[in-house]
Amino acid sequence: MSTTTIGILGAGKVGTGVARQALKAGYRVLIAASGDPKDISLIISVMAPGAEAVTAAEAMAAADLVVLSVPLHKFRTLDPTALSGKLVLDTMNYWRDTNGDMPELDEAPSSSEMVLAHIPGARLAKSLNHIGYHELELDSRPAGAPDRRALAVASDHDDTRALVLEFVERLGFDAVDAGSLARGAAFEPGTPIFTGSYDEAGLQAELLAHAAGAEMDLTPAR
Ligand SMILES: NC(=O)c1ccc[n+]([C@@H]2O[C@H](COP(=O)([O-])OP(=O)(O)OC[C@H]3O[C@@H](n4cnc5c(N)ncnc54)[C@H](OP(=O)(O)O)[C@@H]3O)[C@@H](O)[C@H]2O)c1
Repeated sequence: MSTTTIGILGAGKVGTGVARQALKAGYRVLIAASGDPKDISLIISVMAPGAEAVTAAEAMAAADLVVLSVPLHKFRTLDPTALSGKLVLDTMNYWRDTNGDMPELDEAPSSSEMVLAHIPGARLAKSLNHIGYHELELDSRPAGAPDRRALAVASDHDDTRALVLEFVERLGFDAVDAGSLARGAAFEPGTPIFTGSYDEAGLQAELLAHAAGAEMDLTPAR
């Protein structure tokens, strides 16, 4: 079943950027910051006209896809109960300067797996984290455009990945299946995928190279 209502948690640079692209693609968009929707209604009317400013609880309740675009160190403020059973897209990244030390990350192979440990009932996918917020609009192209940019989608569930792949396509990108959530480590900050910009074939090649490197790391030294 396709997604129709997007609930975005985070009304900052990424949240409003995703909102604009989602509105263009024909979705209904609800957007929330951490407080009263009245505090963001003016900025939303300017930055993402057509999106509805709501509470986080309202966004999660009404959406069939919840987009997480809050600073990563705020992940514990996300409500696991409200996100249980929901299709959830994690766009978040770890930046020490912004997020501070996060010892929880040492126990998770990727930041999305750390987030999933906090919201275990969510059907979680990782994507849209390896594109700058301004590029969501700048690099978006119709399907089939020769210079269309590719973005990776990782999730542990095939149906979740399929729905988020469709969402990313509708935002204007070639969506590439990156496999399990752990494979999302291939496009976290510091990786070639994170720092570069790729077409579909280029992104697939980088994902394969990262997977091959990860397997080599697991091979015992002789
Ligand atoms: N900037 C980029 O180009 C970029 C690109 C890809 C991914 N990312 C990642 O996307 C995330 C957001 O980045 P950003 O640059 O958009 O940050 P930002 O401009 O600082 O915006 C963060 C937003 O999150 C809201 N927020 C915090 N806790 C919340 C909660 N529990 N529920 C709902 N909203 C909450 C904040 O609202 P309040 O003011 O009310 O707290 C604010 O509106 C980060 O994890 C970042 O690493 C960033």
